[in-house]
Amino acid sequence: MSIEQLESIAQAMVAPGKGIIAIDESNTTIKKRFDGVGIDCTEENRRAYREMLLTAPNLSDHISGAILYDETLRQASKAGVPFTKIMLDHGILPGIKVDKGPHPLAGFPGELVTEGLDGLRDRLKEYASLGAKFAKWRAVITIGDDMPSSTCIEANCHALARYAALCQEAGIVPMVEPEVLMDGSHDLDVCYDVTEVTLRSLFASLYEQNVLLEGTILKASMVVSGKDCPEQASVDEVAEATVRCLKASVPASLPGIVFLSGGQSDEAATAHLNAMNQMGPHPWPLSFSYGRAMQTAALKLWSKDMTANFVDAQKTVAQRARENGLAALGQWKKSA
Ligand code: 13P
Repeated sequence: MSIEQLESIAQAMVAPGKGIIAIDESNTTIKKRFDGVGIDCTEENRRAYREMLLTAPNLSDHISGAILYDETLRQASKAGVPFTKIMLDHGILPGIKVDKGPHPLAGFPGELVTEGLDGLRDRLKEYASLGAKFAKWRAVITIGDDMPSSTCIEANCHALARYAALCQEAGIVPMVEPEVLMDGSHDLDVCYDVTEVTLRSLFASLYEQNVLLEGTILKASMVVSGKDCPEQASVDEVAEATVRCLKASVPASLPGIVFLSGGQSDEAATAHLNAMNQMGPHPWPLSFSYGRAMQTAALKLWSKDMTANFVDAQKTVAQRARENGLAALGQWKKSA
């Protein structure tokens, strides 16, 4: 794959008014989501749920790509059509989560480092042959007493950069995701500082590992008040701080930035993205790569009656795509 092909995939991921749906929950994580709505976490239920989402009519109007889990990338619709074929036929790029999850960082109690580099070159080769056009690796940065350590940030950014270089070698666009968790009672300023230090470290590591920024997408967390902070920043404060932080730490040559929702409500995730885009133009498109903020309402509906509510659940996820697509243009209105 040429550099131009990587660049054009990255640009398509953040096409105007479009974003990504993250449905790459590991079997452990989707079990938690299913448990929450009383669904058995069987392979067939996981497949049926992902089919409902991926075949929602008009989804591709506002969705450029979907991040899948290993199992899902290999699954097919009830009629036997591979999910990857359905996606590509609808202009939705297949993505794949390739990390092996965050694990305790030895010597640093309470901190995490994401694993998954061993054997990654061979796995990426297989994923490319199965149709994956982009990949995702999530690092987790925790804010707490004396946390995060510079060791934690550097170890995670080094891994992200090595993953990104391997992706590009395989012709796959890396989505690099250093998530600063919302958990904690810290305020907006602390989240700003941690996010800025993390992003600066990430881009230094990407540079060291010869990663082509033009063929890379950043998946960022927004600069928000900690979940337990008594003073919660307003929508405009979050938007202003996030854009300021990104401008201070992300090179302009990056083709785009997408956000995770990280436990924000559906409405907050959309309102924050919309406010940021209303403050534009920015050096890069700002869009979404939401998991929970795209799926929660549809999952709830589908779980009540998988057959009778199938169409309405599809309409619900398509509506979330539309709202976030409008927010990616700064055109969302609360009642839209
Ligand atoms: P949330 O939007 O639910 O945070 O999920 C996005 C994601 O892919 C996290 O890695």
